[in-house]
Amino acid sequence: MGKHHHPQHIFNPAKAEKLLDPKWRLIEDPLKLVQQMGVKAGLKVVDLGCGAGFFTKALLEAVTLHGEVAAVDLQKPVLEFFHKHIGERPNLTTIQADLCKTGLKSGQWDSVFIAFTMHEVKVADALQEIKRILKPGGKLLVLEWGVSDTCPENDSGKRAGPPDDHRLLHPTLLNHLQEAGFKAINRDELLGGCQYYIVAQSDRE
Ligand SMILES: C[S@@+](CC[C@H](N)C(=O)[O-])C[C@H]1O[C@@H](n2cnc3c(N)ncnc32)[C@H](O)[C@@H]1O
Repeated sequence: MGKHHHPQHIFNPAKAEKLLDPKWRLIEDPLKLVQQMGVKAGLKVVDLGCGAGFFTKALLEAVTLHGEVAAVDLQKPVLEFFHKHIGERPNLTTIQADLCKTGLKSGQWDSVFIAFTMHEVKVADALQEIKRILKPGGKLLVLEWGVSDTCPENDSGKRAGPPDDHRLLHPTLLNHLQEAGFKAINRDELLGGCQYYIVAQSDRE
């Protein structure tokens, strides 16, 4: 396992519908999970690589109408799915952009949430952008695939999640976070290590 991650592949937008399939997701309660990661009523949260909105919907519910969500994705066909799933919301902004260059104002966001997407991008570039848009003391919430051996097999015997060499495993992400000046303040493994999350804060205010 290398100290640095090299992205191999970007999500195929033809599979956008799969992102809402409960069997494929393995996550039964996205609202409970985002709350466990620290998302609360009234917060301003950015969802980077929002996909079809599986987590955006939960984030909107968690922040309530007192908070705000900005959802960012690079791919137009994915965002078309997103709009069908989420519809119009008074406290939601959707942006088609590279998450390493969101165009969002600096220092305005309480949390940046990024699920199953960090492994698709240049981690160092993403972390610089995340640091720029977070408020001082703001939190980065990353959810990723862990060790494939621990992931359940589907009907055709394939392990859930991307191939091993596409995964951004926990120790590699911790290394990137440390290099970018983030400190992990909370973390947990899900499904016996098949997925994991890290909550981190910038240690250079
Ligand atoms: C595997 S999907 C995960 C989607 C969503 N977070 C979820 O968990 O349902 C990864 C998403 O990241 C988006 N993505 C990949 N690279 C990106 C980039 N550089 N900027 C913005 N979005 C990106 C893809 O278009 C895709 O929708």
